[in-house]
Amino acid sequence: MILIFGCGILGRHLLRALADRNEPILAVTSREIPAAVTSEHVRRLACDVRSERDLARLASVCAGEPLTVFYFAAQHNIDAVFADPDAAREVNIVGLRRFLSCGLNVRRLFFASTDCVYGENDERHPRFAEDDPLLPVNEYGKQKAEAEAIVRASGFTVLRFPFLVGPSLCEKPNFYDSSVQRLQNGEPIKMIDGMVRSALSYQTTAGLLVRLSEAELPAETINVCGDRGYTKYEIGLLLAEKAGAPVSLVRKLSVQEGRRFFKDARADCACMDNEKLKRLLRIESIALEV
Ligand SMILES: NC(=O)c1ccc[n+]([C@@H]2O[C@H](COP(=O)([O-])OP(=O)(O)OC[C@H]3O[C@@H](n4cnc5c(N)ncnc54)[C@H](OP(=O)(O)O)[C@@H]3O)[C@@H](O)[C@H]2O)c1
Repeated sequence: MILIFGCGILGRHLLRALADRNEPILAVTSREIPAAVTSEHVRRLACDVRSERDLARLASVCAGEPLTVFYFAAQHNIDAVFADPDAAREVNIVGLRRFLSCGLNVRRLFFASTDCVYGENDERHPRFAEDDPLLPVNEYGKQKAEAEAIVRASGFTVLRFPFLVGPSLCEKPNFYDSSVQRLQNGEPIKMIDGMVRSALSYQTTAGLLVRLSEAELPAETINVCGDRGYTKYEIGLLLAEKAGAPVSLVRKLSVQEGRRFFKDARADCACMDNEKLKRLLRIESIALEV
């Protein structure tokens, strides 16, 4: 059985990518997912990773079945983690440990980490490779780095994602949805002219996750990202193209102006290298398609 633990935006895209696989799926969120998400193959369950009782119920629902787990549950809002790091730790660290020891029969586990674990690119590290040092500049990156160590010590796979772009597919629209909507209405959007990331669409990421899970690879740490870095502004231009809107509606915001909206630090450049992923999956190139 496949368990998607933290079936939010990436989880919903993964459900789509797994639609052809004739395998039972259990989709878990901290709150109840709407019934529309379920199908003949997909069951849903509410389980808060902070609750021993919820995790015991999850273990009893899974009843010792061998599981392939996609572990996406996290407090991942960088400024919310900064504002209350202890509350975030309850989910990101303590919850993760509880999950791993709650009595599930986990055969394979893919943990969602982030480029934030690396910190800032520099001349020696223009694109971070998996064994580069981890020097996160914010509390979120520090908590993910700590969580990664727990996952690796348990013998499972860590996947480091970049900035992910695409429709929410959940009940609440996300940044992508509202930006495309504004552009379609002829309204301008402001995008930071910097903060370069090896961005990838949720849809492409979900497809890569399926391929990784089918590849039966040994547990590894793998950057899952696109070939090239994009500034937020460049992503805005792609959104305008997607919305059929003039690129003049995408306005530049300087990095300094953009930083005024943030509470915790962000790296200016945190591009990752994806050669390992491409080698493992025998892929030539990975593009950002919004
Ligand atoms: N989005 C990105 O650009 C990006 C980049 C790098 C890494 N990542 C990582 O990728 C993963 C998925 O991201 P996403 O974009 O799909 O985010 P998302 O839509 O917010 O999904 C997060 C999921 O975690 C669940 N969750 C949160 N707190 C929980 C708790 N206490 N117990 C159980 N489940 C809990 C949420 O459930 P509820 O909705 O019910 O709260 C939601 O289903 C995260 O681990 C994130 O750190 C994301």
